[in-house]
Amino acid sequence: MAPDITAMKGRGPVVALTAYHAHTAAIADRYCDFLLVGDSLGMVMHGYETTVPVPLELMIMHGRAVVRGARRALVVVDMPFGSYEESPAVAFRNSARVMKETDCGAVKIEGGRRMAETIHYLVDRGIPVMSHIGLTPQSVNVIGGYKAQGRRQEQWAAIEEDGRQVAEAGAFAVVLEALTQPLAQRITAAIDIPTIGIGASRSCDGQILVMEDMLGLSPRVPRYVKKFGKVGEAIEAAIRAYAEDVRARAFPTPEHTYAMRSGAGSSRERTGPVEIRATKKPKTPSSKG
Ligand code: KIV
Repeated sequence: MAPDITAMKGRGPVVALTAYHAHTAAIADRYCDFLLVGDSLGMVMHGYETTVPVPLELMIMHGRAVVRGARRALVVVDMPFGSYEESPAVAFRNSARVMKETDCGAVKIEGGRRMAETIHYLVDRGIPVMSHIGLTPQSVNVIGGYKAQGRRQEQWAAIEEDGRQVAEAGAFAVVLEALTQPLAQRITAAIDIPTIGIGASRSCDGQILVMEDMLGLSPRVPRYVKKFGKVGEAIEAAIRAYAEDVRARAFPTPEHTYAMRSGAGSSRERTGPVEIRATKKPKTPSSKG
């Protein structure tokens, strides 16, 4: 649950990844403290240029999938652009909908001081909130690009104040995106909730990356991403091999083909639909959230 993440402050790095669908969530769940259904899914999964067009319904759909895949890790769902900025009441209505319809454990909203009142309003009404400051991608049209923040010292005070105010407002953790190391270190030391860095150095209390980026699946990645895998290459090699086998009629072979049952059953058995077996995993009453 969200307070477990807060309790990790000063006790060891918080490990997090984004997740957008059930099967990868199930794998990441074994290694991560929380999974973020980030609105980056608009760019990573749906080919949008920015996160701005992402609708609430899409977040709910992917949120449900991740919650179905995760058993242990806290699932946090991003509130998309336009779903929370208007007023605390609007933010509550939409966040409550996300929590009810996905069964996630918390929501994330972008913005520092300007969102402090909203964070307080949500937390006071039972919604755990993760904050997100520094580079806030939903504001890309105002910022004018995906630029690192705090590169000039005169910018530090405002960003540090963002950190203080979201912590005071009751956020259980805060994402620091694309911040210089000395500033990330200052914010981390100044507030009593974990700072989760993405492109914000190892001075943060935890780290998060976009899963497709670190897997080596995204075609372009920011400079702070380390590619821990070559999944794009593995997918391409597998698809190439499949296409070659199908064209060469080397697939399917008899081992991938249903055999007739010996002793011939009823005509319905011989001609009826192929049985599809689904493996259903038992769900423990939940740890998540
Ligand atoms: O949407 C997202 O993936 C995020 C991460 C960059 C933290 O907000």
